[in-house]
Amino acid sequence: MIELREELKSDVEGIDNIVRNAFDGEDEVALIHRIRNSQHYIPELALIALHNRTTPVGYILLSEIEIEAEDTITSLALAPVSVSPPFQNEGIGTFMINESLKRATALGYRHVIVLGHSAYYSKFGFIPASEKGITGPFKEAGDSFMVKELKKDALPKEGHVHYPAAFGI
Ligand SMILES: CC(C)(COP(=O)(O)OP(=O)(O)OC[C@H]1O[C@@H](n2cnc3c(N)ncnc32)[C@H](O)[C@@H]1OP(=O)(O)O)[C@@H](O)C(=O)NCCC(=O)NCCS
Repeated sequence: MIELREELKSDVEGIDNIVRNAFDGEDEVALIHRIRNSQHYIPELALIALHNRTTPVGYILLSEIEIEAEDTITSLALAPVSVSPPFQNEGIGTFMINESLKRATALGYRHVIVLGHSAYYSKFGFIPASEKGITGPFKEAGDSFMVKELKKDALPKEGHVHYPAAFGI
């Protein structure tokens, strides 16, 4: 049984381990710590997946970013998402993404940006940001730079995504 809940301070070490093992390195661990300590952190969208109510097996973080259009618009970055390697390919990633998108919608957010594998994220309704006139800082990203509207036609006609300093971009 998998359940998802907001992270607690006492979860941090377990989350670090999941992310370290999933990404085989420290970069994403450090990214999460920087986001957590920034004004862009949203406690309701920092979610840990527990197996049998106790074992941490997954983590997903959505945080605020800005789209520069005619006005500056608040959006969300989905980054990163991790599942502990022994638990991968069992649907936990899918569950965490779907659930976090539902929670983001309920909180009133209108769109989400992701840089990731397009074959994976297209299953959740993400499309290349370029199709919506949205650009970002990644010159070579192509279709991996993606966007999903949580409300129909919520995006401006065109815009440029700015990542906060925590992302180190
Ligand atoms: C990506 C990740 C979060 C997916 O979680 P998961 O619980 O293993 O995924 P699910 O069980 O929900 O979905 C499995 C499906 O995703 C696909 N998938 C998994 N990783 C993928 C990847 N990197 N690229 C494309 N597809 C991928 C699997 O092939 C499988 O496809 P299928 O359903 O057609 O058989 C997890 O594999 C992970 O932590 N990977 C390492 C970290 C990472 O790359 N994070 C994403 C950064 S964009």
